[in-house]
Amino acid sequence: MDIITAHQLKKYYGKGENQIKALDGIDLAIEKGKFTAIIGASGSGKTTLLNMLGGLDTPDEGEVIVDGVSLAGLKEKELAVFRRGKVGFVYQNFNLIPTLTVKENMLFPLSLAGSTPDPVFFQEILTLLHLEDRQNAYPNQLSGGGQQRVAIARALIAKPSVILADEPTGNLDSKSSQNVLGLLKLSVETWKQTLVMITHNLEIAQMADRVIRIEDGRIRA
Ligand SMILES: Nc1ncnc2c1ncn2[C@@H]1O[C@H](COP(=O)(O)OP(=O)(O)OP(=O)(O)O)[C@@H](O)[C@H]1O
Ligand SMILES: [Mg+2]
Repeated sequence: MDIITAHQLKKYYGKGENQIKALDGIDLAIEKGKFTAIIGASGSGKTTLLNMLGGLDTPDEGEVIVDGVSLAGLKEKELAVFRRGKVGFVYQNFNLIPTLTVKENMLFPLSLAGSTPDPVFFQEILTLLHLEDRQNAYPNQLSGGGQQRVAIARALIAKPSVILADEPTGNLDSKSSQNVLGLLKLSVETWKQTLVMITHNLEIAQMADRVIRIEDGRIRA
């Protein structure tokens, strides 16, 4: 079963000779419960595509359907609700809030939505990501790998069906990369989520169930 499908996605920037075709007709189906890696040269359109799949950006043409819902049909507020409930984002630079503790960072998305975590699930995430002892630490007291584990925990807390990760190990050394990636894979497997990850690291791409290569805004098999 496909959890995400995209039809003829196009996104162009600028006009005339200088026009950049960030996405130039992308057709895509992402299978539920699988780990899909997206690779491609810098500027090929990977981030543009991922943001579109998560409803952070809108295409000029084409359509994205997630879990049976066409994102084009959603109003801004509905889109925000969709993102909060269905999608967890993980970024290269972690995007943690420096003045909040690990626990507060993890709970931040839920607090925005006015809800509180299931305490059992919260504990499970802490345990799985080896963060039990670091709950009251601040991000700058953690290593890069530690910070990324917090960002993953934050992405998981709302039990999203899809995790979209944009070069999540791009700022980590190879040992932390393996560690973070292993935990991310374990998390999505444990909670039967779908993982779509951009990476420049071919070793990581090899761990994926499927690899999609983007070139100049198009998919190359
Ligand atoms: N807001 C924007 N305005 C103008 N051009 C943009 C904008 N966003 C992206 N682009 C251009 O679209 C193309 C695709 O960008 P994108 O960020 O998706 O590439 P990428 O594959 O993620 O690259 P990287 O590996 O460097 O992160 C690039 O040529 C980029 O310069
Ligand atoms: Mg990018």
